[in-house]
This record gives sequence, C-alpha cells and structure tokens, in this order.
Amino acid sequence: MKLAFFDTKPYDIPSFEEHKPQGMSIKFFETKLNEDTVDLAKGFDAVCAFVNDRIDAAVIDRLQEMGIRVLALRCAGFNNVDMKYAHGRLHVLRVPAYSPYAVAEHAMALLLTSIRRIHKAYIRSRDFNFSLSGLTGFDLYGKTVGIIGTGRIGQVFAHICRGFGMQVLAYDKFPNLEWAKENKVRYTSLEELLKESDILSLHCPLNEETHHLINAEALEKCKKGVVILNTSRGALIDAEALLNSIKERKVGAACLDVYEEEADLFFEDNSGHILEDDILARLISMPNVIVTSHQAFLTREALDNIAETTISNLLTFFETGSCPNELCYRGGTTEDCKNGKCF
Ligand code: NAI
Repeated sequence: MKLAFFDTKPYDIPSFEEHKPQGMSIKFFETKLNEDTVDLAKGFDAVCAFVNDRIDAAVIDRLQEMGIRVLALRCAGFNNVDMKYAHGRLHVLRVPAYSPYAVAEHAMALLLTSIRRIHKAYIRSRDFNFSLSGLTGFDLYGKTVGIIGTGRIGQVFAHICRGFGMQVLAYDKFPNLEWAKENKVRYTSLEELLKESDILSLHCPLNEETHHLINAEALEKCKKGVVILNTSRGALIDAEALLNSIKERKVGAACLDVYEEEADLFFEDNSGHILEDDILARLISMPNVIVTSHQAFLTREALDNIAETTISNLLTFFETGSCPNELCYRGGTTEDCKNGKCF
C-alpha cells in the first residue's frame, strides 16, 4: 500500500515509520492537502491528512478521478472535510481518540499558566526581575468551571478540575448522567453554565450547531472576569467578539490553543513575517491572553497512538473493505459506513 502523507512535520515521521508494516510505503509531503496540491497523490492508494488540510469538493473529486478511495485522518476532528460531499465518493477514516489526557492536561496547563501569571514570571526572572507586582492570581479551589462537551476530553478535564477541588458544571447535547453522578458533575443549560462559571472550557466538536457558540451574546451572559479556555476548534468562538469582551474587561483571560483562522498560520514559523490577521495579533498582544498553536495533542503518547491507529485503520480497510473508525456525514460512524454500504 502506498500512502501519501500531507502536512508532514518532523515529529510525525518517527512514529509512523515505527508502526509502518512491511509492504506499506509512506511518502511524506510537507505541503498541506488542498485543491492546488492534491495531484501529488497521483499513483498512491490512500492519503493521510491532518487538521488544517482542506478536503473540499474539488479535492474529493480529484482524489476520486485518481482512483483514491480512502482518506485517513490522523486526528479526531473532521470539520475540515466536506463530509456530505465525501459520501459515496471517499471513505474517511479517523483516529477517534489518541490521548484525551494530552488535550485535557494542556487545557489545565494553560489555565494555571494564565491565572498564576507564569508566562509573565518566566520572562521576568530570566531578566533577573524578581518583582511580584502584577502577578497576583487566584485559587482554583472552590471555583466553578463550566465544561461544554463532556466526551472523552471533557470528562478527563472534569476529573482534573475535581482534583483541584473545583465545582464542575457541564453542558452537552447528549449528557452522560451516570458519569456526572459518579463524578459530582452537574449538567445545566448552556445559559446557566455561562452565568455561573468562573472558567469556561470548550470540548465539543465544531459543526453547524456549535459554530460561534461563544459569540457576543454568550459572552454577555458570562460572569465578569470569566476565563475562557479553547482547546477544541477555533470557530467555536467568535474571535472578534472575544477580543471586544477582553477590551471591555468582561473576559478576564483567554487561553487559546486553536483559532478560527489558524489554517494558514499555526504549526508554521511565521516569525519573519508580518501578521496580516489583526484580530489574532491584537489577542496575542493582550497580557491576559495565551495562545499556543494547536499544541494540545502533542505528547509522545498521543503521537504513538495516532500513528498506530491511523495505520491500523488503513490496514483494516484494505483487508476487509470497511473500518470501525470510518466516518459518515450522517453523524459519526454509522452501521452503513461500518459495513461499507455507504457506497
Ligand atoms: P468526543 O466526541 O468524545 O466528545 C465531544 C462531546 O461533545 C460529546 O459528548 C458530544 O455529545 C458533545 N457535543 C456534540 N455536539 C454538541 C453541542 N452542539 N453542544 C454541546 N456538546 C456537544 O470528542 P473528544 O475526543 O472529547 O474531542 C473534543 C474536541 O476536541 C474534538 O471535536 C476536537 O475538535 C478537539 N480536539 C483538539 C485537539 C487539540 O490538539 N487542540 C486534539 C484532539 C481533539
């Protein structure tokens, strides 16, 4: 099997080389997969893509013309694939879970860094400035965190927060009441969660329903000084509305591992370029905003699991014609997709 691997970063290669079985060859392309680059996949059996590759109708058509039937996403989210258009044209496999701990722990790392001003203290002490002025934080103990999306990552984050002695509120379209009862988590309406939370953390997928879930109206309902964490997908938040709320001192701090317009910026060294995105530039300039560039997944354990599952997905698909981790636009993995009947 010949696999065309797009948007390769140096940290991707060792784990994929290690898990690759005999008989599989992988060509690592640095470029992202999009309409302009899709022809690089000519002659391959499958393509492997990541979060900022754009698999739209044009790419899907071209893959089909080249006889490529399978796209293996090496990530959990699939908002960058036109799933409706892919139906009947391209099998889309993904890695549903690789390390919820990696993402949830990063969310907590961002939160602690922000509220204890570690990012400021680190820079000060490197300059032998040992002043504590302006570094006053607050205890997490006893604070209320509101978690939106209590799937794999949201649940781990809730457990971590409980470990800090926090009250955990949750909102999910499909609440897991048993888990909530066992873990002293209280499901509420979105409205109540926004009103009651000192800290908001987003862990739901990006789709038509959740696009700009945190917009000006939602921010208006939040507590003054709320800390907002987003380690899910950028477009869950209306970035301009967030910026305005920070300027108005309504939002106390924001920690963003993802950004709505990240596709052409994140994962790359743009230090020699002038940043065209004024909203991102202004957000980064704020003392109470921390931005990491979609880094939450990046642990050794996660990379290993991603490689293992992606390769196993492809092997299963090519051996049996279907794969349990196949996606379908009708919402997640359906029986039809599982049985390869989508086509
Ligand atoms: P999951 O599928 O286990 O959980 C998602 C939860 O969101 C589910 O409980 C679901 O019921 C809920 N949900 C769905 N629609 C909703 C809605 N409209 N309102 C409220 N809740 C809703 O997913 P998992 O593994 O926990 O991942 C969550 C998200 O984290 C992914 O969608 C992905 O976008 C993001 N992610 C980010 C990474 C990073 O490096 N920053 C890495 C991996 C995932």
